[in-house]
Amino acid sequence: MSASLLDPIQLGAIAAPNRIIMAPLTRGRAGPGFVPNELAREYYRQRASAGLIISEATGISQEGLGWPSAPGLWTDAQVEGWKPVTEAVHEAGGRIVAQLWHMGRLVHSVFNDGKPPVSASATKGEGRAHTPVGRLDLETARPLELNEIPRVIADYAKAAENAKRAGFDGVQLHGANGYLIDQFLRDNSNLRDDDYGGSIDNRIRLLREVTEALIGVWGKDRVAVRLSPNGATQGVDDSAPDKLFPAAAAALDALGIAFLELREPGPDGTFGKTDVPKQSPAIRRLFRGR
Ligand SMILES: Cc1cc2nc3c(=O)[nH]c(=O)nc-3n(C[C@H](O)[C@H](O)[C@H](O)COP(=O)(O)O)c2cc1C
Repeated sequence: MSASLLDPIQLGAIAAPNRIIMAPLTRGRAGPGFVPNELAREYYRQRASAGLIISEATGISQEGLGWPSAPGLWTDAQVEGWKPVTEAVHEAGGRIVAQLWHMGRLVHSVFNDGKPPVSASATKGEGRAHTPVGRLDLETARPLELNEIPRVIADYAKAAENAKRAGFDGVQLHGANGYLIDQFLRDNSNLRDDDYGGSIDNRIRLLREVTEALIGVWGKDRVAVRLSPNGATQGVDDSAPDKLFPAAAAALDALGIAFLELREPGPDGTFGKTDVPKQSPAIRRLFRGR
């Protein structure tokens, strides 16, 4: 007999009592200092009957967060703000993982004292940034220097440690939707010619190294990853997604993560759309699982 939506499922170390997974959804309700508050506590408590809640995307650093009133996980105040949220979810019988977010080139400089955003290369996202002073044109990113990449990975690890202190059940790396990890993955936003650019292996390197760092904090069975292999998303695109994403999935499989989530938006998807007839067999196989 096939499984029902209401049957339990084991997601790495997380025993979900049903297969309803709440998608990560940016709410923009945090307080000053990107600190989650009572609104988040109530919102997530109300949804604790899901098998697993994936939190709204949560900034790993000020450099990586450019969404007004989104929460972060890089300060002690943010950790304290999250504690009552995770407690409320657990008291209501639920489970919640933190989605860790670096927006890369999609961060407007108003969030960083006028400093340009960082990315794989000097490229610009598509669309306009949400900022506290309204929508503003996106800006050209400053390529991360090779010797800065360990610091970015350390920022992810610190946020993962903070997620632990805040009482989460694990973390999900936000590798989807045209943010920093996706900017490194795809060949129209990654124009580097060092160890992090060029070949598919090199473009996957940051995804792999960040995931390894998260595993170093949480163990492999409490680390998940989200990717969006279909079509262009906020300006990122790839000339051969049917080669890139199976290779990325294989690299994550080799690390043994808890689960890989793939977005498959419909024709009117919120961040890019899937053209199913044009989807390659390699990507279709990814969705079906092997
Ligand atoms: C308002 C809004 C906020 C979202 N925030 C996030 C987010 O924080 N992290 C994320 O990975 N996806 C986010 N998404 C994408 C959703 O998780 C989900 O994949 C999408 O809404 C499902 O529809 P689609 O895939 O057909 O677009 C957001 C979508 C919407 C509409």
